[in-house]
Amino acid sequence: MKLNCTLLYTRYLLLLALTLHQSSSATSPLSILQSDDPILALSVTDYGATGTGLQYDTVSIQSTIDACSSTFALYLRPCHVTFPPGKYLTATLYLKSGVVLNVSENATILGGTRLEDYPEEQDKWYVVVAENAAEVGITGGGEINGQGLEFVRRFDERKNVMVSWNETGACLGDKCRPRLVGFIGCENVRIWNVRFNQPAFWCLHIVRCQNTSIHDISIYGDFNTPNNDGIDIEDSNNTLITRCTIDTGDDAICPKTCTGPMYNLSATNCWIKTKSSAIKLGSASFFAFKGFIFDNITIVESHRGLGLQIRDGGNVSDITFSNINISTRYYDPSWWGRAEPIYITTCPRDNNSKAGSISNLQFINITSTSENGVFLSGSKGGGVLRNLKFINVNLTYKRWTNYVDGLIDYRPGCQGLVNHSSAGFIMEHIDGLFVNNVNMRWAEEKTRKWNNPLEFRPSTVNNVTLSNFYSGLYER
Ligand SMILES: *[C@@H]1O[C@H](CO)[C@@H](O)[C@H](O)[C@H]1NC(C)=O
Ligand SMILES: *[C@@H]1O[C@H](CO)[C@@H](O)[C@H](O)[C@H]1NC(C)=O
Ligand SMILES: *[C@@H]1O[C@H](CO)[C@@H](O)[C@H](O)[C@H]1NC(C)=O
Ligand SMILES: *[C@@H]1O[C@H](CO)[C@@H](O)[C@H](O)[C@H]1NC(C)=O
Ligand SMILES: *[C@@H]1O[C@H](CO)[C@@H](O)[C@H](O)[C@H]1NC(C)=O
Ligand SMILES: *[C@@H]1O[C@H](CO)[C@@H](O)[C@H](O)[C@H]1NC(C)=O
Ligand SMILES: *[C@@H]1O[C@H](CO)[C@@H](O)[C@H](O)[C@H]1NC(C)=O
Ligand SMILES: *[C@@H]1O[C@H](CO)[C@@H](O)[C@H](O)[C@H]1NC(C)=O
Ligand SMILES: *[C@@H]1O[C@H](CO)[C@@H](O)[C@H](O)[C@H]1NC(C)=O
Ligand SMILES: *[C@@H]1O[C@H](CO)[C@@H](O)[C@H](O)[C@H]1NC(C)=O
Ligand SMILES: *[C@@H]1O[C@H](CO)[C@@H](O)[C@H](O)[C@H]1NC(C)=O
Ligand SMILES: *[C@@H]1O[C@H](CO)[C@@H](O)[C@H](O)[C@H]1NC(C)=O
Repeated sequence: MKLNCTLLYTRYLLLLALTLHQSSSATSPLSILQSDDPILALSVTDYGATGTGLQYDTVSIQSTIDACSSTFALYLRPCHVTFPPGKYLTATLYLKSGVVLNVSENATILGGTRLEDYPEEQDKWYVVVAENAAEVGITGGGEINGQGLEFVRRFDERKNVMVSWNETGACLGDKCRPRLVGFIGCENVRIWNVRFNQPAFWCLHIVRCQNTSIHDISIYGDFNTPNNDGIDIEDSNNTLITRCTIDTGDDAICPKTCTGPMYNLSATNCWIKTKSSAIKLGSASFFAFKGFIFDNITIVESHRGLGLQIRDGGNVSDITFSNINISTRYYDPSWWGRAEPIYITTCPRDNNSKAGSISNLQFINITSTSENGVFLSGSKGGGVLRNLKFINVNLTYKRWTNYVDGLIDYRPGCQGLVNHSSAGFIMEHIDGLFVNNVNMRWAEEKTRKWNNPLEFRPSTVNNVTLSNFYSGLYER
């Protein structure tokens, strides 16, 4: 139910007067308003938004958000900005504390496609952005659309060629495009029941946030557009992602550390398809990643399933992957990934970088069908992989595309792409690998030319336990 704000305000003043009359002790508005009071709601159309998708509604929408945030400051309860059915073309919108955007079913927020629709600093290029805000969110069953296809300069099945807004010279090549939605330095963020469509660059970006809940959302990017990431979580603690569908070109769920560590991320009950990694830690990895759980995830025809791409000295520990079904296949080598169901690498990005350590990883109840094997690659010095466990894992190896194989992909940086025959598990620089109940099955002739189950040199791989390990030809 929507409530007229003036009415509520009058009631608030009345209650406040009563309370002040009854007692001289300070009472917060929160304790005055009953917990089952309806949410305040302001509609953008009441502030002049047209919803035609033809003219910019930026000013009206921003005024609604500002008004909503003021009522939050007054009542200390969330205020919803509602978007009735329609298309709302807009430049960057700034979400404020206490405001939830309620984009209703059949309503779409359409991001502008002009450079002047976005602020000066490139790292603030978002269609919707909240900065240093608390109690913020997005919901309503509707859509936020970045019009990403308008940013394609040339469509190409291998990889689209994208527009570059490098006017200020501040960014690199075709990476100068706006992201869709960003929460930067926020607390208590909730994003649910909303669809994100056609981001021009990354889709949902969570940066230095505390307590973020993302559930029942879907993300549809373009399969051939580079940097069309799903959810990028950076330097944030306590992030929960559940019931998401992500179908996009670049990494689907991608934790990174740039300015500080990241603790406690859980992603469960998701369905993912991507031309890159479904789950990828890195490659920005300057600080620690710790305490992550990925559970009940289906990964379909992706270029990589579960990936750790650690390049900048951050240490990774205590990560569990469980109940995951994966299918991976080759795509063009211009995309990172070589169809590995599981890809764990740490190496120094360049001469100025260090290798971070990776320890205490568990893979439990994993089923996969893939065109390539598992790649586990630590590096000398601090980059040894320590204490890896694979329990109840069924890997089926099967070639079904005609893309080139026989390459190991260390990108970005490190050794780049290297010619090397494939194997079920390729292992380098590991200390402590425990394998229990792992089956490798090899299908058809094309695959059998590389049916080397385990490849490692004892000089770099130490303390390996294989129990109930099976490798054999696929029979049915
Ligand atoms: C949204 O549009 C669909 C199809 O036109 C219609 O069936 C549905 O009732 C609409 N929902 C709302 C909330 O307007
Ligand atoms: C969003 O607004 C719609 C229409 O006003 C309302 O029916 C719905 O309950 C609101 N959603 C939430 C989560 O408050
Ligand atoms: C970005 O713009 C600057 C200044 O115009 C130019 O020097 C630089 O080469 C451009 N970079 C790329 C990768 O396009
Ligand atoms: C996350 O937690 C770590 C460890 O307590 C802390 O150093 C870091 O500042 C926290 N990050 C944020 C964004 O609050
Ligand atoms: C995060 O959530 C926890 C548990 O709900 C709560 O104790 C904590 O205060 C929240 N943190 C912030 C920054 O609001
Ligand atoms: C991570 O979660 C654990 C267990 O719930 C909790 O004790 C710890 O404080 C959390 N870390 C951060 C940085 O919030
Ligand atoms: C696993 O996730 C799917 C959605 O992808 C959901 O339908 C199913 O109930 C989940 N299973 C469990 C055991 O939670
Ligand atoms: C994975 O596939 C198996 C067999 O095909 C199925 O029993 C299981 O429920 C699937 N798990 C997930 C997470 O989809
Ligand atoms: C990673 O761990 C090593 C060894 O304990 C430590 O020297 C280094 O500072 C850690 N790196 C970061 C970024 O915390
Ligand atoms: C692996 O395959 C075996 C036998 O075919 C089956 O019993 C087991 O449930 C499978 N495990 C997983 C995690 O798929
Ligand atoms: C692995 O699968 C088995 C059988 O389905 C189940 O009993 C067990 O709880 C699962 N383990 C994890 C860590 O989810
Ligand atoms: C060998 O690795 C296992 C994990 O697989 C670990 O628990 C054990 O401590 C390691 N042993 C030595 C001697 O390092």
